[in-house]
Amino acid sequence: MMLQIPNVLTPDAVARLRAAIDAADWTDGNATSGFQSALAKQNRQLPENSTAAREAGAMILAALERNPLFIAAALPARIYPPLFNRYGVGDGFGDHIDNAIRQTPDGGRVRTDLSATLFLTDPDDYDGGELTIDDTYGVHQVKLGAGDLILYPASSLHRVEAITRGARVSSFFWIQSLVRDDARRALLFDMDMAIQRAGATLGQGDASIVSLTGAYHNLLRMWAQV
Ligand code: NI
Repeated sequence: MMLQIPNVLTPDAVARLRAAIDAADWTDGNATSGFQSALAKQNRQLPENSTAAREAGAMILAALERNPLFIAAALPARIYPPLFNRYGVGDGFGDHIDNAIRQTPDGGRVRTDLSATLFLTDPDDYDGGELTIDDTYGVHQVKLGAGDLILYPASSLHRVEAITRGARVSSFFWIQSLVRDDARRALLFDMDMAIQRAGATLGQGDASIVSLTGAYHNLLRMWAQV
C-alpha cells in the first residue's frame, strides 16, 4: 500500500526544522547506505548523531504520534530515528530496494516494513528529484508539498530522479509495523477508514459499528506481532 499523508508538519514547523538543519554540517550520503546501494547514490546527508538531526528527528516523531492517519496506516511498532538528505543539482539515487534490517544508533534493530519520505522543500523550488516507486500497480512518481509524507512498502523498487534545478531536502525513515504483511495491513486500514466514515453517520454507539470495531480488533489481535 502506498499512501500520501498531507500536513504532517505545518508550514511553520517546516520552516523551523529547515532553519535548524540547513545550518548544520552535511556529509556524503553514502555513510548510511548498504554496500549495494552506495553504488548508485549521490547526495548529502545530516550525520545521524548530530544534534540537529536528533532534534529535528524528535520533532517529526512527535508529529507522527499525533497523526491518526499515519498511525492507522502504518500501525507502527518501531520507527527508525528520522534521517535527512539533500539532493543538489546532478544528485540522485538510482533503483534500489531498502535494506531489510536497520541497526539504530542505540543498538536496537528495526525491520523495515515501510519506508517514509517527508518532503521538506516547496516543489516550486526544484526540478527533478521525484521519488519514483515501482509497485505491483505500476510506476508512481511522487513529489509532494513541504510537510507532506509518502508511505510505501520498503520492499518496492524505488529511486530519486536527478535534480536539474535547486535542491531537495527531505527526511526519510523506516517503520517496523505491528502487522508485517502489506496486504493484511492494507485490509485493516481500509476497514478502519470505513468504520470511521460509517461511525460519523450512524454514531459510534450504533450496534453495527460496535460489532465492526470488534471485528477489526479481533483481526489486529490475530495478526499483530508485539
Ligand atoms: Ni531507498
